[in-house]
Amino acid sequence: MRVEVLTALAGASLAVGQTTDWASAYTKANAALAKLSSAQKVQIVTGVGWNKGPCVGNTPAISTIGYPQLCLQDGPLGIRYGKSVTAFTPGIQVASTWDRALMNERGKFMGEEAKGTGVHVLLGPVSGPLGKIPTGGRNWEGFGVDPYLAGIAMAETISGMQGAGVQASAKHYIGNEQERERDTISSNIDDRTMHELYLWTFADAVQAGAASVMCSYNKLNSTWACENDRILNQLLKKELGFQGYVMTDWNAQHSTAASANAGLDMTMPGSDYNGGTVLWGSALSSAVSSGQVQQSRVDDMVRRILAAWYLTGQDTGFPSINLNANVQGTHKTNVRAVGRDGIVLLKNDGGILPFKKPAKLALIGSAAVVNPQGMNACSDQGCNTGALGMGWGSGTASYPYFVAPADAIRTRATSDGTTISTSTTDSTSGVASAASGADMAIVFITADSGEGYITVEGNAGDRNNLDPWHGGNALVQAAAQANENVIVVVHTVGPIILETILALPQVKAIVWAGLPSQESGNALVDVLYGSTAPSGKLPYTIAKTAADYGTATVAGSDSFSEGLFIDYKHFDRASIAPRYEFGFGLSYTNFTYAGIKVTGAPTSGPATGDVVPGGRADLFETIANVTCTITNSGAVTGSEVAQLYVGYPASASAPPKQLRGFEKLPLAAGASGTATFTLRRKDLSYWDSSLQNWVVPSGDFNITVGASSRDIRQVATLAVA
Ligand SMILES: *[C@@H]1O[C@H](CO)[C@@H](O)[C@H](O)[C@H]1NC(C)=O
Ligand SMILES: *[C@@H]1O[C@H](CO)[C@@H](O)[C@H](O)[C@H]1NC(C)=O
Ligand SMILES: *[C@@H]1O[C@H](CO)[C@@H](O)[C@H](O)[C@H]1NC(C)=O
Ligand SMILES: *[C@@H]1O[C@H](CO)[C@@H](O)[C@H](O)[C@H]1NC(C)=O
Repeated sequence: MRVEVLTALAGASLAVGQTTDWASAYTKANAALAKLSSAQKVQIVTGVGWNKGPCVGNTPAISTIGYPQLCLQDGPLGIRYGKSVTAFTPGIQVASTWDRALMNERGKFMGEEAKGTGVHVLLGPVSGPLGKIPTGGRNWEGFGVDPYLAGIAMAETISGMQGAGVQASAKHYIGNEQERERDTISSNIDDRTMHELYLWTFADAVQAGAASVMCSYNKLNSTWACENDRILNQLLKKELGFQGYVMTDWNAQHSTAASANAGLDMTMPGSDYNGGTVLWGSALSSAVSSGQVQQSRVDDMVRRILAAWYLTGQDTGFPSINLNANVQGTHKTNVRAVGRDGIVLLKNDGGILPFKKPAKLALIGSAAVVNPQGMNACSDQGCNTGALGMGWGSGTASYPYFVAPADAIRTRATSDGTTISTSTTDSTSGVASAASGADMAIVFITADSGEGYITVEGNAGDRNNLDPWHGGNALVQAAAQANENVIVVVHTVGPIILETILALPQVKAIVWAGLPSQESGNALVDVLYGSTAPSGKLPYTIAKTAADYGTATVAGSDSFSEGLFIDYKHFDRASIAPRYEFGFGLSYTNFTYAGIKVTGAPTSGPATGDVVPGGRADLFETIANVTCTITNSGAVTGSEVAQLYVGYPASASAPPKQLRGFEKLPLAAGASGTATFTLRRKDLSYWDSSLQNWVVPSGDFNITVGASSRDIRQVATLAVA
């Protein structure tokens, strides 16, 4: 099979050594395929069975072609069950940095650690869930609720990982938006919404060269994802030109022939969790013998799997499996940078932050200190005890160490001569004595979620509500009664409702510290003390009340009736004022915007290019450029995330504005820089279901650049004929 390969990935940087040369990988795969027996082919597509190998997924070695025992291992933030690996920051923290270089570097470092432990396929990154339901248990594993931002994070992560020689698995494909009933629910997503929201991020993953895609547990229109012809054969392989292989989520296969014919290429872990039921293996051989599955289909599965292995260069010099290897290197630098640059400053009255050598600080709340039972005391991080660095479930890793907020603040306080008083439980009884007399009281609150096989404090994966856990509101109230200057630090998987806290005039600052993993305290100190000005922006909306989101978990089936209107697109259309909008974040400086310029003269109409990995080739061509001058008008160095939102002509029936570009500019005080946004054909198109194609509508586009989705500073018009 010959495929044209894109030489440049619009909107994302290609890492040195990145392999997207599927054509030569397929040449090698075909040569190897010719040497295999039918039985060997079935072995390559069937996992060895649950708990029957060193990794969470394994296929047998085929020595005649030098093919190894393939090791597939969780997960999206590092190597689950690794003994001495980095616990990288969760996807949601990466998204809130809006920093392509950090996204790419994190992917590269994860790839290096996977390769160093002999893991061929690292099971991530995640953009399913996308996060349309704010309580969704696994939203924190992904890159936030906007497909443009999440798609770039997917592409950067994959190009980083695969450039380091490890296969990525983009997951969970698709419509897996909640933990509740995830193994049975049907996600009934209309065709346009599918393309413009949920498929968008996977298109970027495919364009970046993703070796594999993992089909999800749920159904689409009542057909299981892993035997769904529409999403596997039609959307992924035909429309997006996906050259790699589709693997199941663990135990997400329900049939032998139907899954094979719908486009599934590998079953994991190969048996059910009791080891009894095996749907491929000899059953697949029988289905071929009886004519239910063509031999050519099995050959295609094998060719795809081998091509992905060759694509990432794993046929030469790949280390043997050793999950105990120490592979951390200096990767913690990325954890600290993402932890720090993902912190979003929501409120900073009177410039109370950064600290100016306070005489006394009070630290309040159990989340200030590491879990007293131990940093890895809960299996798969399935508890919310002590400082929160990640959610729970299979997408976790063990911490090699954990710098809790109180540890890092104490260290810093020593050098400033600051006295520290603490009340590090969630009881309000010790708050007054700790907080009174302090210059400031810092209250640590959390909200946690995870994968549904673990229930934590009554939350079965998805959160029960959007309130802070452990009585966080009462803790802040108690601090406010004892101290005039309360700073609230929030470690959370996603939005919480802040109204109770914001009603307290003593709350002068809110530091949205997200999920910073092992470098939590260091990242926080960098911002609290001003060695780095905060530069994160929210990758979701914080509402005034949970009902404002208009989405919630459901039972049985989800009609996705909100369509395109999730998160800020919903708030915009329904004219609901959010508390803190998508894209919002303060700094210790200010930025001004000037001189918006739009160039290019795009023409309307459908895309016409040949299909390459990611979709029709012309969708990725730049058809307009937007530039804008950003000036740091404050007194300290800082970074601004300039954001481009596009309003389509009314004929497209699109959301009022959609993110279609961003650039993070580091600027010294008084300095100016140019934010440059490239608009690809896809960025100005909508999905026309009747044409089954992307179409650029004619008319006036509203091109807006701003500091958030509601802080628009510059507006221009792009007329499309
Ligand atoms: C599900 O049904 C809707 C409504 O008919 C359709 O628009 C969509 O393409 C279908 N999706 C799949 C994956 O079959
Ligand atoms: C940013 O500008 C606003 C409005 O002029 C001002 O109130 C605020 O103090 C400035 N903040 C910083 C950090 O300079
Ligand atoms: C956009 O900018 C790039 C880089 O300067 C340039 O090569 C390209 O021609 C521009 N495209 C349009 C449509 O203005
Ligand atoms: C363009 O966007 C701005 C900012 O959102 C808005 O105020 C303005 O009304 C929009 N203009 C049109 C023509 O939609």
